Amino acid sequence: MSLLIGVPREVFPNEKRVATVPEVVEKLIKLGFSVAVESGAGDAANFSDETYRAAGAEIITGAAQLWAKSDIVFKVRGPSQEEVGLMREGGTLISFIWPAQNPELMQQLAAKKATVLAIDSLPRTLSRAQKMDALTSQAGVAGYRAVIEAANAFGRFFNGQITAAGKVPPAKVFIAGAGVAGLAAIGTAAGLGAIVRANDTRAEVADQVVSLGGEFVKVDYEEEGSGGGGYAKVMSEGFQHAQREMYARQAKEVDIIITTALIPGKPAPKLITAEMVKSMKAGSVIVDMAAEQGGNCELTEPGQAVVKHGVTIVGYTDLVSRLAKQSSTLYSNNLLRLTEELCKTKDGVIDVNMEDDAIRGLTVIKEGNITWPPPPPKPSAAPPAAAKPAAAAPAAKKGHGHGGSGEPMAGNKLAIMFGVAAALFWFVGANAPTAFLAHFTVFVLACFVGYMVVWNVTPALHTPLMSVTNAISSIIAIGALIQIAPPLAEGMAAPNEWIRWLAVGGIVLTAVNMFGGFAVTQRMLSMFRK
Ligand code: NAI
Repeated sequence: MSLLIGVPREVFPNEKRVATVPEVVEKLIKLGFSVAVESGAGDAANFSDETYRAAGAEIITGAAQLWAKSDIVFKVRGPSQEEVGLMREGGTLISFIWPAQNPELMQQLAAKKATVLAIDSLPRTLSRAQKMDALTSQAGVAGYRAVIEAANAFGRFFNGQITAAGKVPPAKVFIAGAGVAGLAAIGTAAGLGAIVRANDTRAEVADQVVSLGGEFVKVDYEEEGSGGGGYAKVMSEGFQHAQREMYARQAKEVDIIITTALIPGKPAPKLITAEMVKSMKAGSVIVDMAAEQGGNCELTEPGQAVVKHGVTIVGYTDLVSRLAKQSSTLYSNNLLRLTEELCKTKDGVIDVNMEDDAIRGLTVIKEGNITWPPPPPKPSAAPPAAAKPAAAAPAAKKGHGHGGSGEPMAGNKLAIMFGVAAALFWFVGANAPTAFLAHFTVFVLACFVGYMVVWNVTPALHTPLMSVTNAISSIIAIGALIQIAPPLAEGMAAPNEWIRWLAVGGIVLTAVNMFGGFAVTQRMLSMFRK
């Protein structure tokens, strides 16, 4: 029996996003689910009831009716008190939850025997999880919008221009904190033609800043700023002092400051003091993206845009909602990818598999039991160590899905396989010409080495590995060309007709490999180009 996914209208004040867009409704239906959307759920993000209906969703009027009918609820914000009341016992909820900050909500959901997947609790460093990473997709939108808000409040162009009416210098933008939102802001501001500088306590982001068209400004103080998991930590007094000096210099020089600095579980670091604001040129702009967590600027008023000392300080806390169509589409795609992981059988039923690292991290309540926080991640040294015994007997592993009592059987199977292979090799050796045997040996060894190389390399390194093997395997083209070419010297035998055709086939396949490789590389590179 297929499950019904319900999408209610968001009730949080000023929340304009919707958890599922019509395009994704169609894809959820293809996965075997039915979809119901509350009437008006997409209005604020410019998705009408009609577009949902056309995509195959049922439109339900009234939140109570929708919640009562839904087996699974897709939401953006965590549910309100009333919404928890409407939730069906034993139902499933997928939304932002922030379990550490909302212990009461967690208790209420557990009392409902719910299964809750908190999209904010995804283990972000798993490369497999990136497609489901709503924190990243939403931070990217917020970073873009912060620049647009800054441009709106700023009285000049971003790019430098030489016009008949005079010369306009480019705007100077300083970005504090180069995480996901900061990097998006750097790319956007650089795209508009501004001179962009950025700083972060984690030195490893310097290259990313430069690759997006910014300049990384270092703090003159040596201290490691990484607090683990890609996040920052609170810095020492000495560092903070040196950082304040550098920020004070930047504040005097730049026209726009966008702050994004956050430390998980801590109030946002105060980086821009009232003095620094005072020192900025009149008409300058500060966009404080950390406003909701207390702000990076001393003078920020969360949710407001205020003018102090001639500087506009934008402290909006709904930047993502100000681009609701875009952020809803990205969020909805994150949820679709998650649903695909939950429903690999494509039959409209979900399996919350707690053995899967990504799903385990996301699941904060399973059938009424609070499962948050998840156990600490396995140390990163574990996977290679585990891979070694598997590599020693790949054939045994392939032959046996269930393990356990199968060990001696696997050994026998391996012996039989080796026996058959040896007999075949002897047969070929006894009957084929000597030259063939030499080539055949190289071929078999190449297959073996190739298998071992690919299967024992960390998946994250597969892309560079493939480009190298691509280059190496293209050498086949040379061999094939020699086979096709007319005899080079008098008396040399022309190759057989069928060898020629084999060589033509080899050239065609290698050409696909070569040109395809270049095309893929080109596409990858173009993602980094403007
Ligand atoms: P965030 O929103 O917690 O923090 C924003 C930025 O502020 C961080 O870069 C942080 O280093 C910086 N910051 C904190 N205190 C600061 C201070 N006093 N001065 C200057 N900068 C300060 O972080 P976000 O954007 O959620 O992600 C953090 C990192 O995690 C990013 O580098 C991102 O690339 C990485 N990440 C990695 C993923 C992966 O490996 N698959 C997935 C998602 C994120």
